[in-house]
Amino acid sequence: MASFDLQAIREDFPILSREVDGKPLSYLDNGATAQKPRCVVDKLATFFSHENANIHRGVHYLSRHATDAYEQARETISEALSLTEEQQLIFVRGATEAINLVTNGLASELQPGNEIILTVMEHHANFVPWQILAEKNELKLHFVPVLDDGSLDLEDWKSRFNENTKVAAFAHVSNVLGTVNPLAEMTAFARERNVLTLVDGAQALPHGPVDVGGLGCDFYVFSGHKVYGPDGIGCLIGPKEKLNTFPPYQSGGDMIEIVSIDGTTFREVPERFEAGTPNISGAIGLAEAFRYMAEIDWHAAQVHEQSLLKYATEELAKLNGIKFYGTTADKVGVISYLLESAHPHDVGTILDSEGVAIRVGHHCAQPLMRHFGIAATARASLAFYNNQEDVDALIRGMKKVDKYFG
Ligand code: ALA
Repeated sequence: MASFDLQAIREDFPILSREVDGKPLSYLDNGATAQKPRCVVDKLATFFSHENANIHRGVHYLSRHATDAYEQARETISEALSLTEEQQLIFVRGATEAINLVTNGLASELQPGNEIILTVMEHHANFVPWQILAEKNELKLHFVPVLDDGSLDLEDWKSRFNENTKVAAFAHVSNVLGTVNPLAEMTAFARERNVLTLVDGAQALPHGPVDVGGLGCDFYVFSGHKVYGPDGIGCLIGPKEKLNTFPPYQSGGDMIEIVSIDGTTFREVPERFEAGTPNISGAIGLAEAFRYMAEIDWHAAQVHEQSLLKYATEELAKLNGIKFYGTTADKVGVISYLLESAHPHDVGTILDSEGVAIRVGHHCAQPLMRHFGIAATARASLAFYNNQEDVDALIRGMKKVDKYFG
């Protein structure tokens, strides 16, 4: 039964009740990593205390149990994302590894002169692997700009497609701007032109469920630690048929069929791309995070997040010389801003002294910074467990910054 009792939810996250230098923690760096509910922490402790064994290798009880739990984790997450029969979930280290796996897989297919469409709002993870592939295979890359409000220039994006276009890769949600891209329209447009799509969902899933089966994209990637699960685990989702045409990404145990001194044959997905001992506990912990998220009333959670976003933005707007980056209506709770008077690093340091955790810097999105002609921003990023006191602490801290520097 879904419910949204903010106080009860906050109690599910042990870290939220801690203090930092005698001040209550106001954790507003959820874009960097999310906090973990107790059930995820307990799941990991139980696994290591009672259930730990390697998978796919042993006939003994613990190994059978761990294998079942690992494969059940795949099932749980696939169901939560409404994956279709044609889609396969592969466990990887995170969104970064997932994208590297795809660019590696496409390397033998893409020919000189082929074109790839990216956007300037991409995280480096969805930028650099394509850039390396483009250099190697002599591909042309497009970088579609954003408009002043931080929304994607969709007309420009559409105009970049031509007969040489093979891939369009884009964020579901921008980690700097909070912009939610119009995925359905974009994936349909690309699909009509037979162009593969890769969607970086790392900043979308923390804000609510995503019907990855119904999105119409080819590849969808995300990181576990941003969706209230452990770090070092994430998922690549892609079409089984296409993935089975990719050469192995890493080789070794578990991904092989027959190994002989004359040669080796490889298994199909998912094992094909899960060489070696995988992050067994990470997968099990991530599935627990998805089970936890399934209990949240996401409609109420999103109304709550949007009201905090509005309140924070209105209060911050009262500061002298503040400029926001990412002001489109269709955005999640991410507030990137600059003060005329203070460097973001000074902002971050003063806020830290107030117990407020935000991220400052280029946010692994240097092309976007360059697009706006800036080097860095201060970024407060919300999760459903944040409350008004967190935002009040941010505003109090920012008033202090304004007093020192303004
Ligand atoms: N990609 C993460 C962020 O935006 C680390 O902070």
